[in-house]
Amino acid sequence: ASAKAVQAQQAAEQAAAALTAEVLEREVGRRRNFAIISHPDAGKTTMTEKLLLYGGAIHEAGEVKARRSSRSATSDWMELEKQRGISITSTALTFEYNGCQLNLLDTPGHQDFSEDTYRTLAAADNAVLLVDGAKGIEPQTRKLFAVARLRGLPVFTFVNKMDRPALNGFEIVEQLEKEFGLQSYPVNWPIGSGDRFVGVYHRPTKKVVLYEKRGQAGRSKGATKAEYDLDDPELQQLVEADLWEQLQEDVELLEVLGDELDLEGVMAGKVTPVFFGSAMNNFGVELFLQTFIQLASRPGPAQTRSGVAVSPTSPNFTGLVFKLQANMDPKHRDKVAFVRVVSGKFEKGMKVRVARSGRTVTLAAPQRMFANERQTVQEGFAGDVIGLTNPGAFAIGDTLVTGPTLAFPPIPTFSPELFAYLRCPPNQKKPFLKGVEGLLGEGAVQVLYNTDEYITDPVLAAVGQLQFEVVQYRMKDEYGVDTTLEPLSYSVARWVKGGWDVLEGVGRLFNTTVMKDVYGRPVLLFRNDFALQQVLGEHADKLGELSPYALP
Ligand code: G4P
Repeated sequence: ASAKAVQAQQAAEQAAAALTAEVLEREVGRRRNFAIISHPDAGKTTMTEKLLLYGGAIHEAGEVKARRSSRSATSDWMELEKQRGISITSTALTFEYNGCQLNLLDTPGHQDFSEDTYRTLAAADNAVLLVDGAKGIEPQTRKLFAVARLRGLPVFTFVNKMDRPALNGFEIVEQLEKEFGLQSYPVNWPIGSGDRFVGVYHRPTKKVVLYEKRGQAGRSKGATKAEYDLDDPELQQLVEADLWEQLQEDVELLEVLGDELDLEGVMAGKVTPVFFGSAMNNFGVELFLQTFIQLASRPGPAQTRSGVAVSPTSPNFTGLVFKLQANMDPKHRDKVAFVRVVSGKFEKGMKVRVARSGRTVTLAAPQRMFANERQTVQEGFAGDVIGLTNPGAFAIGDTLVTGPTLAFPPIPTFSPELFAYLRCPPNQKKPFLKGVEGLLGEGAVQVLYNTDEYITDPVLAAVGQLQFEVVQYRMKDEYGVDTTLEPLSYSVARWVKGGWDVLEGVGRLFNTTVMKDVYGRPVLLFRNDFALQQVLGEHADKLGELSPYALP
């Protein structure tokens, strides 16, 4: 009888494991996680809104913006955002579309960078490149694209504002190729632009999709009027002669350029599917979504430091802390740690181990952000982002595990370009040091120190000016310290991989200043790239390898 009982037990366990595997496979398979990269004003907020509208997450266009402006009323930390009209915090928005769960990681859309922007991209599986059809590729897009490239993310391009006079589609395609080395595969193609934008030709179905004009279409979905074959005489009636002829020509040319979509190229971030439309008027947004969920990368295996990959469907839960944020809600003076689920199933109240410290933490108050409103999350799978109230147990880059201990490669910190001493009044030294430590631990900014031990004020090293402002604002708001900034005229930093021994071997260096990072490692600061090249020209051999990033 006992042998039978054991057998039954084993069978039950096997069935449970099979069920778990099935659930994991299904849930991971339907997840698409992405970040939008764009230059301010290209229409990211509008696009986000329309995506959420199709996903049923909001019911009327305008809600995202409304939330964006109303939330600052509830938080003085957000006051800075309101003043600047920007979004400093990045969060994940979740919505469903055709059976898929889409997680949109919101990257700050201001021209100033922060480390957060980069970290958010470090948690994304796909990038959507949003381009203003009239302006083409703009500076911030370049910077963000460089990060997406570094990570080898698949890139999907949406050319927006086609209802305004726009560049020719082929010009955009050429820019993508020239500037980013991206080969384009236009999934749809615009017919006209500006006042004469009448619709798109959808290549997978070989149909022309016409749109209703703005006015009726902007606020609700379903702006599509009808679909036509390319040679449909009715279409010829509807579209002005020159546009119709142009379309026939363009379609031929597109076919010559390439008929087949190179999926592997897309996955490798070398080929970008391109879409044209107008987010504001709902032109082409749904066509984009339909193709996006088919082609976008689902959450994949994650490489660990030891080289072993963690499968997203592994039964053990693994998560990566990629961002910390303090005081999102000043009423609670809380901290939130943003975790990307890498494998297994996240469950509310589960116990995990922080790989770095070995500490066991109960994930008691998990939250997902929706347009800055918190919803309690019951479960999550690979590709999901969960906000955890942070009892101080988490640091950026931490791995949370239920199974064997493992660690992911460090999230890169990006080469700072702006440097300034942060000073405080003599009587506020104590809270000042506490504040520096707190903000540093959170990764709000990088800090360097003078090698002269009598100069103890920290040097803030940032990617964008905004980071300085945030540090000063928070120093005042959270620690009560009135700081001043003394900008330094450096713009390039290089970490000396060989350390102090190597530096001593080189002897006196001109055109550079040596500082140390928080780990005491030498960092060379240069006024500009020219100064760096000069020093390299004279001492490259002896200096050995230099890194633009803080070394792990
Ligand atoms: P961002 O988040 O990338 O900064 O851009 P956002 O969506 O806020 O859009 C910037 C401006 O561009 C907004 O106008 C928006 O309405 C407009 N816009 C977005 N998509 C389209 C489009 O497809 N066609 C046209 N013609 N305009 C578009 P605004 O005047 O700054 O704001 P609002 O008063 O319209 O809200």
